[in-house]
Amino acid sequence: MGAIMNRQLKLARRPEGRVSLDDFTLEESPVPPAGEGAVVARTLFLSVDPTNRVWMKDVPQYMPPVAIGEVMRSGGLAEVIESRLDGFAPGDLVFGMTGWQEYAHLRPGGPLGLAKLPQVPGLAPEKFLGVCGPNGVTAYAGMIEVADVGEGDTAVVTAAAGSVGSAAGQIAKLKGARVVGIAGGPDKARRLVDDYGFDAGVDYRADGFRDRLKAATPDGVDVLFENVGGAVMEAAIARMNPKGRIALSGMISIYNGIGGTSYDWAPIMAKRLKVQGFNLIDCGEIWPRAARELAGWVLEGRIKAEETIVEGLTSAPEALNMLFDGANRGKMLVRVA
Ligand SMILES: NC(=O)c1ccc[n+]([C@@H]2O[C@H](COP(=O)([O-])OP(=O)(O)OC[C@H]3O[C@@H](n4cnc5c(N)ncnc54)[C@H](OP(=O)(O)O)[C@@H]3O)[C@@H](O)[C@H]2O)c1
Repeated sequence: MGAIMNRQLKLARRPEGRVSLDDFTLEESPVPPAGEGAVVARTLFLSVDPTNRVWMKDVPQYMPPVAIGEVMRSGGLAEVIESRLDGFAPGDLVFGMTGWQEYAHLRPGGPLGLAKLPQVPGLAPEKFLGVCGPNGVTAYAGMIEVADVGEGDTAVVTAAAGSVGSAAGQIAKLKGARVVGIAGGPDKARRLVDDYGFDAGVDYRADGFRDRLKAATPDGVDVLFENVGGAVMEAAIARMNPKGRIALSGMISIYNGIGGTSYDWAPIMAKRLKVQGFNLIDCGEIWPRAARELAGWVLEGRIKAEETIVEGLTSAPEALNMLFDGANRGKMLVRVA
């Protein structure tokens, strides 16, 4: 094992605004053998997630920030090359917190710990990093478990053309809701309807956004699946009906900045809205069931999902920026090997 060399991107300083490769050091070292109860796995794909940007910040959050000098934390899809863990063998494909490196030592436990990927004919393994993995399970948890979307509801999804958002909207459609997506640019707004089967798509960047959102939600909004925060979220909350439900999935509009957000809570009080933040780290119990159901929907063509893939470990910082530019179509991945 000692002959194999690893390349790792370690956080060198806390980025300000957009990230750059200069915020990391690229280090090479031999891959140590697997420890007892662990596997060594070769990273195939990195899952690029908006939350990676938050992990780089020294602010209170749901996991400890990545320390300076530490390998950048990230989910990934990897192939086991050495195992000292029962039930895992070389050749197995696994999901785990690989980090931004070519080889990772993985062991079960902890949030989003090691899991063997099911081999499903007709489904590319990388689907288990997106629509049948973390992003789809987030959409499932938010729409079904948190918001309990159903017949007669009007549901609004923000960042709707993205990986979580497109899945969330399609799940709400499957559950019988009328679904309106909010996304950036006319092309994405159109694709929400044409490609993902939403009832309407609204471009938040164009003039008259609030009026167009109002026109697209004539009966108000019962469920908001919120991914963005800030002005987009405020506009959606302004359309909500009394006793509406908000599944607060993410707030990407503030992740690149330093501060938080200030929101006037009066409409939430006046409308008696139910707001619930939720996170994948609490979804271990529903994950297998949700992933199975999502895989079935994808195979039946009832849910569509795309991936945007960039090549090479050192592209990871730029791939992360692409999420903040809206330059991704569906799940953002880095192919490492
Ligand atoms: N709660 C959880 O456990 C959990 C798990 C995974 C993800 N999430 C959250 O889900 C959200 C989406 O994540 P994802 O991985 O699926 O990414 P994604 O939606 O595929 O990509 C991010 C999208 O966000 C939009 N965006 C970026 N900056 C924006 C801004 N300032 N204002 C409005 N829209 C902006 C862009 O789309 P446009 O071109 O439309 O602007 C971009 O394509 C994020 O908030 C993330 O934190 C939560």
